[in-house]
Amino acid sequence: MLQGRKALITGGSRGIGREIVLKLLRNGASVYYIDLNPGDSLDEFKELAEQHGLAVVYKEGNVADESTITTVVEEILAEAEGIDILVNNAGITRDGLIFRMSSKDWTDVLNINLNSAFYISKVVAHHMVKRRAGSIVNIASIVGVIGNAGQTNYSASKAGMIGLTKSLAREVAARNVRVNAVAPGFIDTVMTQKLNQEQREALTRQIPMGRIGEPEEVAKVVLFLASDLSSYLTGQVIHITGGMGM
Ligand SMILES: NC(=O)c1ccc[n+]([C@@H]2O[C@H](COP(=O)([O-])OP(=O)(O)OC[C@H]3O[C@@H](n4cnc5c(N)ncnc54)[C@H](O)[C@@H]3O)[C@@H](O)[C@H]2O)c1
Repeated sequence: MLQGRKALITGGSRGIGREIVLKLLRNGASVYYIDLNPGDSLDEFKELAEQHGLAVVYKEGNVADESTITTVVEEILAEAEGIDILVNNAGITRDGLIFRMSSKDWTDVLNINLNSAFYISKVVAHHMVKRRAGSIVNIASIVGVIGNAGQTNYSASKAGMIGLTKSLAREVAARNVRVNAVAPGFIDTVMTQKLNQEQREALTRQIPMGRIGEPEEVAKVVLFLASDLSSYLTGQVIHITGGMGM
């Protein structure tokens, strides 16, 4: 589906990002991923890439540090000789009621979840516009649409991601560059494994499908948005929530 394409993904070492790396490799794209560490999956990625005659390259970088990340992304653009797909996925939570939230917890979440997408999209969208082709997929969250007590910082970052997606989509649409977002609900990763059993059960009760989602269920939709299957789709936010927040 993605034969000959090259993808750049942030936060590809584990969780949803890891599944996106696997999904894109299995569908014919070479993958560059940026993270704070390579994670446990680099050997698995390399084996898969080799089987399919593709490349997978890990680059260390903090997505919240504008000058570092700009250098790393420019390096990747030069090395890959072109990027067709960008997935802004890296993200963190620092939960707490606003009365107790430190400015650092607010700023860290906004920097890593939202400002990073500005820094990286600025460079990559420019490159895609010049090539008259590209697909950008931003990983937002249902919490950016409906809010969540204890997550003012996180939901603000994800609502910001949705605004960035729609505005950038309008800026680059005429140059055949598409920009979309996904808004996952409750997905089983390290991020959500922090919740205790009682919190998980309470959350699950709010999901019409009655279960937590798997990272692969997000990766499948990212594949659709990255590929030509979604060739006439831009500025959209697809909810992947088992019906939560519909
Ligand atoms: N898990 C969920 O329920 C859920 C729901 C909605 C949205 N999301 C979003 O999906 C994305 C992935 O989340 P996940 O659940 O896989 O989380 P995760 O914590 O398992 O993975 C996040 C990845 O991002 C990387 N990362 C964090 N800070 C970074 C930085 N400063 N620079 C570079 N890399 C960094 C981490 O090292 C890690 O590999 C996030 O944007 C998250 O907000 C997750």
